Amino acid sequence: MKHRLLQVLKENSGRFVSGEELGEYLKVSRTAVWKHIKELKQEGCLIQASTKKGYKLIYSPDVITEDELKYDLNTEIFGSKIFCFNEIDSTNNYAKKIALEGCDNGTVIIADRQLSGRGRMGRTWHSPAGKGIWMSVVLRPSVGPEDVQMITLAASVAVVDAVRRATGIEGGIKWPNDIVLDGKKVCGILTEMSSELDQIGFLVIGIGINVNHGREDFDEMLRDKATSLRIYAGEKGVSPRYGESGGTFARIGIVRNLLQELEAVFKKVENNRIPEIIEKWKRYSVTLGREVRVTSRDGCYTGVARDITPEGKLVVYGRDGVNREVLSGEIQVRGLMGYV
Ligand code: BTN
Repeated sequence: MKHRLLQVLKENSGRFVSGEELGEYLKVSRTAVWKHIKELKQEGCLIQASTKKGYKLIYSPDVITEDELKYDLNTEIFGSKIFCFNEIDSTNNYAKKIALEGCDNGTVIIADRQLSGRGRMGRTWHSPAGKGIWMSVVLRPSVGPEDVQMITLAASVAVVDAVRRATGIEGGIKWPNDIVLDGKKVCGILTEMSSELDQIGFLVIGIGINVNHGREDFDEMLRDKATSLRIYAGEKGVSPRYGESGGTFARIGIVRNLLQELEAVFKKVENNRIPEIIEKWKRYSVTLGREVRVTSRDGCYTGVARDITPEGKLVVYGRDGVNREVLSGEIQVRGLMGYV
């Protein structure tokens, strides 16, 4: 009830809603509304109360809790269990640990801060407190290991859709699954797998989204390459949407949308609707048609990214006139993330 009340106040942010209206909407008495308002205030919300006009939400703390996240989530798998931490070494590490102990499909781990956040290629992932979404999901998909690449691509499509729904911001995808805004990285995905030859034991999909960082929150080295939703919104004058407070984005709304979008794309993967994901991935791509530099086990080469295959490999047309398919490794795209 408390969460529904908070949601209604957020949806009407900036204006008063009368106790009567709230009571009718939530089907409770005005006294019950008042009681829940009192509880929300005790939890750190600033709510202006006027005997004539009702209640106006001024500020709500951007804390992600299991109860609030579950409210209105409506997913079957994603978020079947939710673990929220103030601090953890890495949500992927924790996810792997509980996956080995047999946790449910769709279990979600979220932390406000990671002390040893991990990125792809053994890099570290800077995960300061309160600034981003640091989250991992444990999956036990019915598909084989050959579909993992597609799941990773599907996750990036889900992030773009979720961020757009929650904030109005349209990200682009750099192959395979970095999300970029104006050529700078705003989100990275680290997928880790435990599998037998033809059956995935479990997958851990770790997603890091830079949400409320200011420029000063990034090391100087990263400032040309990384951004946050807040920095981008400030630069573009993106109009504030519901859920924002004090110029920052409420992370919980983005996470809720993300779990819903992830569930939608994973159902598509399991139901052989991969072409729909590829079609969307291509639409969101900021890679296809551009010059890329590929660093792989076979060495480095440059070419033009032409397509992705039904398995999610990137097709690169090399300067030597040969098409090559890239499955893993690192690519740089000219004009993105500091590659000039
Ligand atoms: C990348 O290098 O682009 C991938 C970054 C993935 C970061 C996320 S944050 C949540 C999860 N836990 C980790 O330690 N890493 C992933």
